[in-house]
Amino acid sequence: MADEVLPYLSVLVLHGPNLNLLGGREPDIYGALTLEDINSLLKSEAGKLQTKVSTLQSNHEGVLVDAIHQAVADYQGILINPGAYTHTSIAIRDAIAAVKVPTVEVHLSNIYGRETFRHHSYIAPVALGQISGFGAESYRLGLQALVRYLRPD
Ligand code: DQA
Repeated sequence: MADEVLPYLSVLVLHGPNLNLLGGREPDIYGALTLEDINSLLKSEAGKLQTKVSTLQSNHEGVLVDAIHQAVADYQGILINPGAYTHTSIAIRDAIAAVKVPTVEVHLSNIYGRETFRHHSYIAPVALGQISGFGAESYRLGLQALVRYLRPD
């Protein structure tokens, strides 16, 4: 039987502040992979899932908000690691709620096992779900979960 040809999905991957420093940034917490390594891992996983990913990292809240607004036109889903904005940004939460693009939140570290100020996420209530604590694997799992939601069997 011929392989089934599925329509490609497009997913926007957003990385928040300080994630450009991955590799050298507190590697005991965030691991040794660079952001480029994580983006390559996601692109390779996306290929297996017949999905295209575009990636953007920003240290600026407004840039992330603008990217979420623009995602409506070009993407079926968003995978986001909001970094420290997880714990502070009502603006990013409101942007996700406004555009209604299905969004999965990911974290490299287990935010619930760290300082109490990291235990609260403004993003989680407007996300499909959250994956936290599996290092770079959180991103891969998040992408798989998002694609399965967007393209159920
Ligand atoms: C993080 C967790 C946040 O608390 C932190 O501010 C980050 C990274 C993570 O991926 O574990 O910048 O989102």
